[in-house]
Amino acid sequence: MRPTDYRGAPWWKHAVCYQVYIRSYADADGDGVGDMAGITARLPHLAELGVDALWITPFYPSPQNDHGYDVADYCGVDPLFGSLDDADLLFKGAHELGIRVIVDLVPNHTSSEHPWFKAALASPPGSPERARYLFRPGRGDGPPNNWKSVFGGSAWTRVPDGEWYLHLFDTTQPDLDWTNPEVREMFEQVLGFWLERGVDGFRIDVAHGLFKERGLPDQRLTPEELARAAEVEEDDNETVAAWHPAHEPMWDQPEVHEVYRSWRRILDAWPAERMAVGEAWTRDQASLARYIRPDELHQAFNFHWLTAPWSASAFRDVITRTLSAAESVGASPTWVLSNHDVIRHPTRYGGGTVGLGRARASTMTMLALPGSAYLYQGEELGLEEVDVPPEAWQDPLALRTGKAGRDGCRVPLPWSGDHSPYGFGPEGTVPWIPQPTTWGALTVEAQAADPGSTLSFYRRALATRREFATSAGDDVELLDAGPDVVTFRRGDLVCHLNCGVTPVEVPPGRVLLCSGPTPGAPDTATWLRV
Ligand code: NOJ
Repeated sequence: MRPTDYRGAPWWKHAVCYQVYIRSYADADGDGVGDMAGITARLPHLAELGVDALWITPFYPSPQNDHGYDVADYCGVDPLFGSLDDADLLFKGAHELGIRVIVDLVPNHTSSEHPWFKAALASPPGSPERARYLFRPGRGDGPPNNWKSVFGGSAWTRVPDGEWYLHLFDTTQPDLDWTNPEVREMFEQVLGFWLERGVDGFRIDVAHGLFKERGLPDQRLTPEELARAAEVEEDDNETVAAWHPAHEPMWDQPEVHEVYRSWRRILDAWPAERMAVGEAWTRDQASLARYIRPDELHQAFNFHWLTAPWSASAFRDVITRTLSAAESVGASPTWVLSNHDVIRHPTRYGGGTVGLGRARASTMTMLALPGSAYLYQGEELGLEEVDVPPEAWQDPLALRTGKAGRDGCRVPLPWSGDHSPYGFGPEGTVPWIPQPTTWGALTVEAQAADPGSTLSFYRRALATRREFATSAGDDVELLDAGPDVVTFRRGDLVCHLNCGVTPVEVPPGRVLLCSGPTPGAPDTATWLRV
């Protein structure tokens, strides 16, 4: 198989990218944690699904406190996942199947096990070793400011000599000081290292976090914002990163854009087409668009689609804003519904039959829009969020806050059989997060044999999308079809989504695909050729 040629467009512009959460995709050695060899062995699944690219979450040497997002060495492979040779084999195997490879870059923070941080701890306040991180004296007995960690509690930890260091995430993830040229140099070398090994792109973790407001001032929160912050923290269904008070001195500072300009120069100078996609939880599409200006990142995840409620007007609003923001900077939009940080979308949409029906319909709707789509492993199986018992919690967010965290969307995939490990690893493997006993009917093996399954639906949807992804063009015309319906036309394709509770008539045309049994039924999307 050769890579899809989307009529000469850059490969990433229309791509469907599949996120592999390495710990939970496939475990070749039976230690309960997924690995490189496991991914390589299961590449045919991705080829059959019909994706264009694979994004692999961090596999670098790491103490795994944040399951890989705490990197101790940016240019290696953790023995837990294999070796650099295994990485080469994986990249080669993917390329042979026409699948591009995106790796995850974590520039906002290192692990506390990174040699730089160890050197910082071993050196005195004011030393060049400390200047790679954000060490500050405290205020009286307390931390230098009032910032909170995304994982709960203060964003500062005190070291024995009395200084504090900043960590916007776990205490073992110290934030780097991006005003320090050494930090910039190091990451430019890291980009070069993986480009040399043949990767096609980078997913940039916390892309909006690298710089902090000068002077690290207190975050100014109004009483209403304070109350709202507490509510968001309490609500298991709200994504903390999606809530934005007016003053955010730790996010989205203007200096960050210069970093992406320098990375873009590196990527553009590479002899083949290479890309970067940013994870930036900014407050709106307009601020997100700044990250994808022509000389910055190629793409950024559009989390506004993911956070929209099940509502036609909310979807229409996101579509309009996304397309106009992308157009304002000449970039191509992206669409995403799930990833390893959020509740799986069938569950967000209500769970059970209703949730799954809506999930299939919203997936089809995003796949009909111009730009590229990011899928998260397991959504092609219709997996729901798993209620992981507290004694099995692994996520630092859960362990720091005492509330269910992100483990429920990270449960290892079911491939075959009727009992755990469902082919995730060799028989007898104990997966690092327990799998439900009810997953037998959801395995790849079971669903591949059933034309009505979610897997078969995804395969048909991706194959059909391939036919119109470029020919339908980039212009989207939203049609007025009533308050509960989203209908848009793109070239000779019409996508119709009924978010209401009563059936509606779909526009005239040849039905290409329907997310459920009946076009126009509630919670159903339909693609028509007109
Ligand atoms: C975003 C990643 O997706 C998430 O899993 C991680 O915990 C944080 N960044 C910190 O790196």
